[in-house]
Amino acid sequence: MRGNKSAMTASQRQGFNLFVGKGKCSTCHFLPLFNGTVPPKYAKTEQEILGTAKDGSNSTLDPDLGRGKFHETVEFLQHSFKTPTLRNIAKTAPYMHNGGYKTLKEVMNFYNKGGGLGLGFKVKNQTLPPNPLNLSDQEIDKIIDFMGALSDK
Ligand code: HEC
Repeated sequence: MRGNKSAMTASQRQGFNLFVGKGKCSTCHFLPLFNGTVPPKYAKTEQEILGTAKDGSNSTLDPDLGRGKFHETVEFLQHSFKTPTLRNIAKTAPYMHNGGYKTLKEVMNFYNKGGGLGLGFKVKNQTLPPNPLNLSDQEIDKIIDFMGALSDK
């Protein structure tokens, strides 16, 4: 972003374009912190509902109510979590609040299916669009490659 053309490989640059484009990732993981803390004032952090599964097999909805645990009557907070940063994400497996996803590929597979709703779980208030992203394996690999560019040297 500062103009250093060799900072990322061609694949990482394509992955960035998919991250902010077809993958819609930056609608929640805001640049430049790649988390849910909203620029330009950074005064609030968004909670989102993905319908995260217990693990990367994506067979069962994780029962953790997240912030909803502390606001039992507020429907839109049930199963909600802050959007975490993706900086250094390649170095911080396992993933999601429950550590249920072992690899970034497993996380991408979850998103590509449209999250919990896309997988057929009952998630009333999902904020992640439930329609499949239709990312090819190659496009998924490029997004993962891009996330690797967010690691400290
Ligand atoms: C609707 C908002 C939203 C969108 C869109 C979104 N994310 Fe997320 N992301 C989140 C939230 C919230 C979590 C935490 C979920 C949890 O812990 O259950 C998360 C977690 C993650 C994690 C795991 C972080 C960790 O520290 O364990 C990765 C990796 C990730 N997202 C990458 C992506 C990518 C890549 C895309 C685009 C394909 C994307 N996200 C799209 C909100 C979003």
